[in-house]
Amino acid sequence: MHGPLGAGKTTLVRHLLRALGVSGRIKSPTYAVLEPYTLADGTAVSHFDFYRFSAPREWLDAGFRDVFASPGLKLAEWPERAAGLLPTPDLRLQITPLDEHQRQLSLQALTPLGLTLLA
Ligand SMILES: Nc1ncnc2c1ncn2[C@@H]1O[C@H](COP(=O)(O)OP(=O)(O)OP(=O)(O)O)[C@@H](O)[C@H]1O
Ligand SMILES: [Mg+2]
Repeated sequence: MHGPLGAGKTTLVRHLLRALGVSGRIKSPTYAVLEPYTLADGTAVSHFDFYRFSAPREWLDAGFRDVFASPGLKLAEWPERAAGLLPTPDLRLQITPLDEHQRQLSLQALTPLGLTLLA
C-alpha cells in the first residue's frame, strides 16, 4: 500500500480486517512494525508498517523472512522502506488524498494471482 503520511493506509486495513471478521482493537503497527492476526478459518494475516524500518539486519532478526515464507495475507504500509527485501506484491495499492474527505485508490496487479484477485 503506497501513499503519503495520513493517506489512509491503516484505515483501509482496519476496514478490511473488520470485513474479514477480526474483532477487538486493530492497532497501527507503526512501532511494532508487525501486527499479526488469525482469521476464523485459520488464515494468518500480517499487517506491516515499514515507516520506521531501517537496517536490513532487522529483517532477519524480526523473523520476517519466515513470515513471508509462510502462507497468509500480507499487508504492508511503506513497502518502499523495505525495498529489496520484500517480494513482488500480488497487488499494489496507491492511495491518493483528493481532499480532507476523499481518497482515490488505484490497484495494480503484479502477479498472476494479483490478476485473479483484481478480476
Ligand atoms: N478514505 C478516507 N476518507 C476520508 N478520511 C480518511 C480516509 N482514510 C483515512 N482517512 C483519515 O485520514 C487520517 C489518516 O489515516 P491513516 O492513519 O489511515 O493514514 P496512513 O496512510 O496509515 O498514515 P501513515 O503513513 O502515517 O501510517 C485519519 O484521520 C483517517 O480518519
Ligand atoms: Mg498507517
